[in-house]
Amino acid sequence: MSVPFLLAPMAELSHRALRELIEDFGGCDEYFTEMISAGALISGGPFEAYYVDAGPCPARVVYQLAGADPGQIAAAAALLDRRDCAGIDLNMGCSAPAIVRLGAGVRWMAYPDKAAALIRMVRPQTRKRLSVKLRLGMEADLDGLVTFCRRLEDEGVDFITLHPRTAREKFRRTARWDFVGALKQSLRIPVAGNGDIADAAGLLHRAAGDCDAVMAGRLAVRAPWIFARARAMEKEPSGKGEPPAVNLEETALRFLELLARYQPPEFHMSRARRFFAYFCDNLVWGNYVKTLLGRETALAGMECVLRTYFGEHPEERLV
Ligand SMILES: Cc1cc2nc3c(=O)[nH]c(=O)nc-3n(C[C@H](O)[C@H](O)[C@H](O)COP(=O)(O)O)c2cc1C
Repeated sequence: MSVPFLLAPMAELSHRALRELIEDFGGCDEYFTEMISAGALISGGPFEAYYVDAGPCPARVVYQLAGADPGQIAAAAALLDRRDCAGIDLNMGCSAPAIVRLGAGVRWMAYPDKAAALIRMVRPQTRKRLSVKLRLGMEADLDGLVTFCRRLEDEGVDFITLHPRTAREKFRRTARWDFVGALKQSLRIPVAGNGDIADAAGLLHRAAGDCDAVMAGRLAVRAPWIFARARAMEKEPSGKGEPPAVNLEETALRFLELLARYQPPEFHMSRARRFFAYFCDNLVWGNYVKTLLGRETALAGMECVLRTYFGEHPEERLV
């Protein structure tokens, strides 16, 4: 059995358009959604329909909830429980200041009693798989991490994803994958590892290590074909048969098309800019293209920028 590959939850990125694009290339095993505000979901915010759109493969989608209020999170989990999905995940790892200030994300890790009480409240609300995604915590302290996670496990969490950086590290330092293995050895439930995977070989390398699933985020935005490419390498480790080339221009234009189809106009520009912030790293003049895209105010203008770039640099179309 292959170790599952998971798409990470990423605000403004892990939505239907990206999932459709990844599926075009062969897909991955599970797709976490971007974090969904529990408060906004239960009060029926105007864009919630887009956040809960689990297409094109609901059975492989894991909804991620974020919030600071246990009652709201429990009510949101009860709402999501009625939807077709692979599971519900609670965000205890986000270190964005706006989230932490509210008492959400990684802030939960500073209060183990409250975090355990949260799970006690959420668990009865759903029969779906309940998971938690977290960081190392305030410090890189294995004993503290294990104690925290054992409490979640005792309250009925079914699996944990660890992004092994402290709250303060954001994306600094490299992810400490040795903590993933050590955590897995200390828990009964499965542990997924996440952080800094750079290519298909990296995905396979982590999958061969001490973890139950491998999650990738930014890499999958830069290279939505990466999960399929890693699976092909796994089947053919000798490297026989070159992977089919990917057409970057077609991929970029396809993403714009999917964005227009599946996201509301209010979200188009923010989502497109986020996506191209990573995707343009495939291009020799990627920073220049990001600047041009950043000046556009509509998807049609972005399309023009991309067509012009690839028209002038046809050698960059295929990777
Ligand atoms: C733009 C962006 C948005 C993110 N949003 C979320 C989020 O909504 N929920 C969450 O748990 N983590 C979020 N993360 C963290 C990722 O899920 C992941 O843990 C992190 O990017 C490390 O993995 P990577 O090196 O494969 O990208 C976000 C990361 C990025 C870059």
